[in-house]
Amino acid sequence: MTGFSVDWLDLREAADQLARDDKLLQQAVDWVATNNPIETEVTLVDLGAGTGSTLRAFATIAENTSSQFLSWRLVDLDTGLLAEARQRHKSSLRLQTYALDLTDIDSLPLKGARLVTASALFDLVSANFLDELAGSLKRSCKQYPVGLYAALNYDGTIRWTPGHPLDDAVLDVFNKDQQRDKGFGIALGPGSGLYMDRLFNKSGFQVFSAKSPWILDRADNQLVDALINGIAEVVAQRSQLDPASLQDWGEFRKSQLFSGTCLVGHTDLLALPRDRLDR
Ligand SMILES: C[S@@+](CC[C@H](N)C(=O)[O-])C[C@H]1O[C@@H](n2cnc3c(N)ncnc32)[C@H](O)[C@@H]1O
Repeated sequence: MTGFSVDWLDLREAADQLARDDKLLQQAVDWVATNNPIETEVTLVDLGAGTGSTLRAFATIAENTSSQFLSWRLVDLDTGLLAEARQRHKSSLRLQTYALDLTDIDSLPLKGARLVTASALFDLVSANFLDELAGSLKRSCKQYPVGLYAALNYDGTIRWTPGHPLDDAVLDVFNKDQQRDKGFGIALGPGSGLYMDRLFNKSGFQVFSAKSPWILDRADNQLVDALINGIAEVVAQRSQLDPASLQDWGEFRKSQLFSGTCLVGHTDLLALPRDRLDR
């Protein structure tokens, strides 16, 4: 178990799908198709797949624009989430699931994949994990082109309206906690997008990125409510903030569930191999 429930992933799914940058997603689908002109089936590997959110994002676009079959390998440590993905999609989409720990990169089923994907994952991982992954993809590129699509990397921004005097202090503690080790070593947290951008650029990939914020309002009140609870819990454990002030912050935030807004910043990134990767 990695601590991500089906309920939590379902709660965030609509906001995630709206937030993903459409152009980058389309570019990923187009690239897969043009780099696979002969075969009718193309393999994608989704890391930290959960119940298959990335597969669902690709399915809609690929259905309309690509004549090729997308065949998915979903990798996650949580067998319950993978079972849910199978139950939702096994009859309609081509997918295999792999219950594996991502930290063992050599064991991942990357062979033959045209695109490695992930969403809401890379802010949890360490610089070392990404270095190894980039190295592995670069080596594969010597035989055939492999790209990386990484969506919804939290960028450290949370903006509320209306504001509260503690918003900045609370965000500061929350963002520090984002670097807590989630099983991969010290997490990149809000720095993951920038780190990936630089890493894949210097590893011989052309990197495209776009902002993909959650823009939440009254329609997302359940998600915002859960977000407030999650932030308040982390901040209560980690900070010197006066508990009464923190409680006031939480109560104020909840009083605005149906009238305020909340922006949570993310970036999406697509790294595609440049023509020659034989350096
Ligand atoms: C925030 S969730 C994102 C799930 C899915 N990609 C989505 O967007 O809904 C992170 C996922 O990474 C998985 N995960 C975390 N650490 C992992 C590890 N060491 N090995 C494999 N999967 C892991 C979790 O089980 C979870 O499904």
